[in-house]
Amino acid sequence: MLKTKIAVLVSGGGTNLQALIDAQEKGMLKSGEITLVISSSNTAFALERAKKYGIPTATVSKKACANQAEFEHEIQASLIGHGAQLVVLAGFMSILSAEFVAKWPKRIINVHPSLIPSFCGEGFYGLRVHEAALEYGVKVTGATVHFVNEIPDGGEIILQKSEPVHKHDTPETLQKRVMERAEWIILPRAAELVSKNILKEGSDYGN
Ligand code: GAR
Repeated sequence: MLKTKIAVLVSGGGTNLQALIDAQEKGMLKSGEITLVISSSNTAFALERAKKYGIPTATVSKKACANQAEFEHEIQASLIGHGAQLVVLAGFMSILSAEFVAKWPKRIINVHPSLIPSFCGEGFYGLRVHEAALEYGVKVTGATVHFVNEIPDGGEIILQKSEPVHKHDTPETLQKRVMERAEWIILPRAAELVSKNILKEGSDYGN
């Protein structure tokens, strides 16, 4: 069966990448196949996860690049070289420029650990998002998967899942629950939905 070629961009532990791999193994992610993992750090544990399953990996180190344009040029070259059709940002800790995202309209999705439009945009990533939610005192938070456009965390929402905040939550306990009960569930589902649509449209992007 023809499948959408998925490239996953990561920066750290890669638990969301693992959720995608698990969904693929179980046949829940069936319209797409992870054919490349690109990490912005050569020490990211996500790279080990990919290698364990024989998924090709590439590292594009931001530090080693002269500027954002060079960083994105290298990512683009790797994506094109592997024939990627869908880009999944799974804990990728760099904001991509408007020029870059314009090359992939409705072909980049991102998982964010809050219910957008709360606690999102520039500066809101990882644990910081949960610290902000606890500081504000919200009683419900969650995760969002959305298309990526030129506005950080501002693209069209694909899926969201809520999670109650508990009285004694710390940023760490809240992060863990949001991951387990929201992110790892909706990211594979969204990847399947978008992969299926790409197959239907049969179009090529990113060139
Ligand atoms: C996840 O919680 C993801 O939602 C978040 O970083 C974590 C990465 O964990 N992403 C952002 O905050 C993006 N704004 P992982 O490497 O284990 O998937």
